[in-house]
Amino acid sequence: MSQIVQLDALEIMDSRGHPTIQVMLSVESGKTGIAKVPSGASTGKNEAVELRDGDRRRYGGKGVRRAVENVIGVIQPALRGMEACEQRAIDERLLALDGTSDKGRLGANAILGVSVAAARAAACEQDVPLYRYLANREAYVLPVPMFNVLNGGRHADNSLDFQEFMIAPVGAPSFAEALQAASETFHALRDILQEKGYETSVGDEGGFAPRLRSNEEAMELLGSAIDKAGYQVGSGIAINLDPAASEFYEKGSYVFRKSDQSRKSSSEMTVMWREWLTRYPEIYSLEDGLAEEDWNGWTALTRELGTKVQLVGDDIFVTNPKIFHKGIERGIANSILIKLNQIGTITEALRCIDMARSNGYTAVISHRSGETDDTTIADFAVATGVGQIKTGSVCRGERIAKYNRLLEIEHELGQRASYAGSSVYSRWK
Ligand code: PGA
Ligand code: ZN
Repeated sequence: MSQIVQLDALEIMDSRGHPTIQVMLSVESGKTGIAKVPSGASTGKNEAVELRDGDRRRYGGKGVRRAVENVIGVIQPALRGMEACEQRAIDERLLALDGTSDKGRLGANAILGVSVAAARAAACEQDVPLYRYLANREAYVLPVPMFNVLNGGRHADNSLDFQEFMIAPVGAPSFAEALQAASETFHALRDILQEKGYETSVGDEGGFAPRLRSNEEAMELLGSAIDKAGYQVGSGIAINLDPAASEFYEKGSYVFRKSDQSRKSSSEMTVMWREWLTRYPEIYSLEDGLAEEDWNGWTALTRELGTKVQLVGDDIFVTNPKIFHKGIERGIANSILIKLNQIGTITEALRCIDMARSNGYTAVISHRSGETDDTTIADFAVATGVGQIKTGSVCRGERIAKYNRLLEIEHELGQRASYAGSSVYSRWK
C-alpha cells in the first residue's frame, strides 16, 4: 500500500555550504522517498518563494527551519492517508494548503521536497526506478548533456559578462560517449588554460573561471579545446550559451560592466546575437539572450533568430505555466528551461513540458547552481524524454552525481535506450 503515513524533514547543506531542506516521506509498507532541494543564485524575479528563516543569528538568515516545520507541522497532517502515487492530487493539495500564488506561505522549497519525496516513495513502493515510475515506456531517450565548462557573469570574478559557456556533445552515439567527449574536452581546456597562464580553479557549477579578456576569447578557447580533444567543433560538440542577460540589464539597456563598459539597447543586442551566430555557427542554443523584463525585445529576438537557433527562456518563464502561456502568446522563445524548484511541484513542471510540446517548443531540464547529491533531475529528463539536460561541468560531486545516474540508467536500459544527439537541434541545424 502506498498510503502516506509519515513526513519528516531536516536542514542539510547544499553545494555552496548554505542550508537547504531534505524531506523524507514514508508509506504504509515502510518504504521511504527522500528529496533534497536545490537553490539558485541568478534567480528569476518571478520564481516561487524559497522560504528562508531570515534569522541573522543562524547562517546569515539563510536557515530553513521554518520550511522544515511547515513540512512536519502543516503538510504532514494534510497529506496523511493520501496515496503517494497520486502525484497530481498531492501537488494540488499542496497548492491549496499554501493558498498563495507564489508559494510564499509554506515555501516552494518545502513544497518541492514533498512533491519529489512522494514520487520517490511511490517508485520505491512499486519497486521500479524513478524514471520508469514517472513514465512507463518500452524505450527511452537519454538527453544531450550541456556542460558548463567556462563561467562568467555572477558565477565568476572575471571580465566575462556572459554567465555560461557550455559544450554539448551532439555527435556522440550514446550518453556514455557524450560524457567521455565532454570529459576529454574539459581536460584539454584545463591544459590550454594552464599553458596560457590562466587559473584553473572551478566555480559553483564546476566550470573554469579564468580571468579571460572577453566573451570572444572564451569562444576561441572552447574551440581549441574541442579541437585538441579530437572532436569536431559544432557537428561533434556544439557550444551553447547562457549569458543570463537579466543580470546585466539596467534600466532598459544592457551594460557590459565586466568587459568594456559598453551599453546596448534591446535591438542592438539582437543585432549582436545575429552577428555571433554568423561568426560562431557552432552555437546551437542560446538561453536568456535577453532580460526577463524585456518582453518586447524577446518577441523581436525570436522573430529574427527563432528559425536559426534554439532560444531558451529561463528567467523569463521561471517554469511557471501561467507565465509560459503568456510568453507563447507573445511569440517569445522556442524552448523552455525546466527547473523544478522555480515552480515547486512535479505536476506544474510537467504541465510546462506538455505546453512546450503542444506549441512546438523544446524543453531543457536543469539543475541549480546550488545543488546536492540528489539525482531526481536525471530520472526526470529520461522520463519526460525532452532530450536535453544541463547540470554543470564534468567536475564537482553534486554535478557528477546526475551524470553518473544517467550512465546507470543507460546501462540498465541497454538496447531500450537511445541517445537524443543532434536530432534535438535538427529544426535549426
Ligand atoms: P542559478 O542559475 O541556478 O544560479 O539561478 C543557473 C541559470 O541561470 O541557468
Ligand atoms: Zn539560465
